[in-house]
Amino acid sequence: MKFEEEIMNSIINQIQHNKGKNLFSDAAYRNMSFHCFTEEVVTRYKDQLKLCGQTKRMEKIIDNTVDIVLKEFYRTNQYIDFSLESRALLKKVYNLLFEDIIIGELDLHMVQERHYARLTKILSITNPFTVIINPPNESYASSAACAEYSAEFQLYILGLTSSVIKEPLLDIGCGENAELVNFMRLAGVEAYGFDRILSEEKAYLSKANWFEYDYGISKWGIIISNIAFSSHFLNHHLREDGKHHEFAIVYMKILSSLVSGGSFIYAPAIPFIENCLPANQFLIEREILTEEYARVKITRL
Ligand SMILES: C[S@@+](CC[C@H](N)C(=O)[O-])C[C@H]1O[C@@H](n2cnc3c(N)ncnc32)[C@H](O)[C@@H]1O
Repeated sequence: MKFEEEIMNSIINQIQHNKGKNLFSDAAYRNMSFHCFTEEVVTRYKDQLKLCGQTKRMEKIIDNTVDIVLKEFYRTNQYIDFSLESRALLKKVYNLLFEDIIIGELDLHMVQERHYARLTKILSITNPFTVIINPPNESYASSAACAEYSAEFQLYILGLTSSVIKEPLLDIGCGENAELVNFMRLAGVEAYGFDRILSEEKAYLSKANWFEYDYGISKWGIIISNIAFSSHFLNHHLREDGKHHEFAIVYMKILSSLVSGGSFIYAPAIPFIENCLPANQFLIEREILTEEYARVKITRL
């Protein structure tokens, strides 16, 4: 097996080994630990790791590692977010980890202790709410898992009938497998989507964060987001450390990226911002689905 392949396998195995554990636990350094396979691979490939020190090869290993770690954070709690800046910090944490391993002056217990201390720190700085929801007496992290729904269920929730659909269509937070975008494409609709945990990028699917995506201006016939953008906005609206201001900016960017007559359709509803939209520019239609749940269609006039 190739060196890179073996290293990546050990990283995937390592992340599985610590899956769901609480970084803020009192027993964190015993709680989070290197798997024996990691120790074995590190020892076996020490020289090769040294050789690829500051090279592109190493950078690729680190980038892939950061991708896997981010996916795991997001899987554990979907409200964790890493901006471009915090992703760069996370990359630094993994650069330092590999540096510690390569220099080889510390024993592996010390290496792991330093690594998990850095990881804990970066999580607490970039996502301060995680400190509050993960008390030190818990071994496992409090989870807020995120589901992906079938295309049929999403069509029902969003009320997407052929008379509503206007091309091109954009799905924000389309899910790892972009179920609805693929369904639309098969039905001949010009559909696009993006998600931060997309499994495979295609010409019409991109891996992106909704804070960084370029929505364009007067571009989309319809934009949809099922239990994604608005449910996260709602969560941030209710949180003390929430990024409600950033969400409001993106919300307005999304609306500006609609063509005139185009609609943003999403669930759940977020009345605290919908009610602030100027009535001469937007038509707001809410449809109650359950006692607590509504879908919303905002049409740009
Ligand atoms: C509950 S899932 C819903 C997925 C899909 N819309 C569906 O109904 O199956 C929420 C989605 O939002 C995505 N998401 C969360 N935060 C995001 C962000 N900052 N940028 C892009 N996507 C994000 C998640 O990765 C996840 O796939």
